[in-house]
Amino acid sequence: MRPTHPRPHGRNISRLLLATLIPLASATAQQVRTGTVAQTYAELCASCHGKNLEGAQAPSMLDDVWIHGGDDESLALSIRNGFPLKEMPAWSAALPEKEIRAMVIYIREQRAKYAREQTVFAKPAESVTVKSLLHRYRLDTWVGELKEPYSLAFLPTGRAVMTEKLGRLFVIENGKIAEQPVSGLPEVDTGGQAGLFDVVPHPDYAKNGWLYLAYSDLQKDADGKAVSLTRIMRGKLRDGALVEQQTIFQAKPEHYVKAGGVHFGGRIAFDRAGYLFFTIGERGGKMVAQDLGLPIGKIHRLHDDGRIPADNPFAHDAKTVPSIWSYGHRNPQGLAISRETDQVFDAEHGPRGGDELNLVEKGRNYGWPVITYGMEYNGTAMTELTAKEGMEQPVTYWTPSPALCGISFYTGDLFPKWKNHLFVASLAAQELRRVELKDGKLVTQEILFKDLGRIRHVIGGPDGALYVLLPTRIARIAPAE
Ligand code: HEC
Repeated sequence: MRPTHPRPHGRNISRLLLATLIPLASATAQQVRTGTVAQTYAELCASCHGKNLEGAQAPSMLDDVWIHGGDDESLALSIRNGFPLKEMPAWSAALPEKEIRAMVIYIREQRAKYAREQTVFAKPAESVTVKSLLHRYRLDTWVGELKEPYSLAFLPTGRAVMTEKLGRLFVIENGKIAEQPVSGLPEVDTGGQAGLFDVVPHPDYAKNGWLYLAYSDLQKDADGKAVSLTRIMRGKLRDGALVEQQTIFQAKPEHYVKAGGVHFGGRIAFDRAGYLFFTIGERGGKMVAQDLGLPIGKIHRLHDDGRIPADNPFAHDAKTVPSIWSYGHRNPQGLAISRETDQVFDAEHGPRGGDELNLVEKGRNYGWPVITYGMEYNGTAMTELTAKEGMEQPVTYWTPSPALCGISFYTGDLFPKWKNHLFVASLAAQELRRVELKDGKLVTQEILFKDLGRIRHVIGGPDGALYVLLPTRIARIAPAE
């Protein structure tokens, strides 16, 4: 990935020039800055480091060559203290810590953007062979002409079911999608990020036929205003309809939030013991993710029929929501349980620069919004805190944010070297990532392809192929001869 690029700089900046170059802000006390980090950069740094961080009198910050260390802490230290002897001002007087933190994120983003521009990623069109690090693969359209497919599940009957965000559930048989959607589905809020989310069969589906759905449940509050929240139900497919419907989780009416909007979570996963895990995002409420009295910004755990397991961490306190398993989550749009280790992982769509992969453990606090590796979307600073006692660190995080969505472990046989690797879908970055974990830690990762559109989910089929949900189709990835 390292770009070959001449490094434009001249370290020996003359003393004469300097007097005019050092911006006044470095000499004044901290002001309240209201601008974005890009504006701060343009105002205070561009004169020496170049308009696009490409370097001028001061070194480039795009080439990943660092004199004083390129990790987050070293960068913050360089900015805070400067190098007065080398004509780099100390910025601690002008920039509060959270602004320095935002600047570090900004430098990372710009550097990654630059590296992307220098790198050619696979963009497999129909029937084109791609050679990835471990396997050669081919990507073909499996089912086309879809509208925002959200989730896909293979049933032991040989059929598959697929949800679309706009509220429809379809049966797919032998690669052919049914003409009519399954009837009898609940009313779904589809505004903003709301919609029909995950569909997952019961681990014993062959015996009991239960299909679980996560969706944004539309209700009216006391004033008649539309409110919604992620709700979990189950039902059975019979003659093209969803019958015997039961509610598995529904929040109290007072916990519903204005309909539409953001951060619903909406993923479901069963562990090997048969417990049902599901995610609810913080609905944009930030600090609410820390409140154990609210179901939002949490990962929950239930028995398959909705009962509260007696060993849930907050099950015995009248003030807490008893289904909570872990908290401090922003928008967990991906959830996967390793069949190899039984570890639970969530992929969290973070703020700008702070998408996380977390190893989710009982009763733990994942820190949002108190700690984060990101800043606000508009480029204003949030906090300088990336770690805190009592709050978990992610397995890894990504800056810039790929906008993570569905994740799943590959357990098939068609790609032996991918066995038990985690596959990660992303929306904004349009990348499919392969992530290798060991003992809950990141070993390697690879971008398998990019730029085929926003990817909602990725899941292995019973045939060992990988199925990828793109904006208008499901693609199938199989080994190339
Ligand atoms: C007056 C010129 C000047 C301005 C303004 C300036 N810098 Fe620098 N900066 C330098 C020079 C020169 C160096 C190289 C120091 C060295 O060679 O040891 C440097 C080094 C750095 C480094 C360390 C680079 C490395 O290779 O380890 C960082 C990070 C940095 N600057 C960030 C910033 C940021 C952020 C701003 C704006 C808030 C800024 N600088 C503004 C001149 C400047």
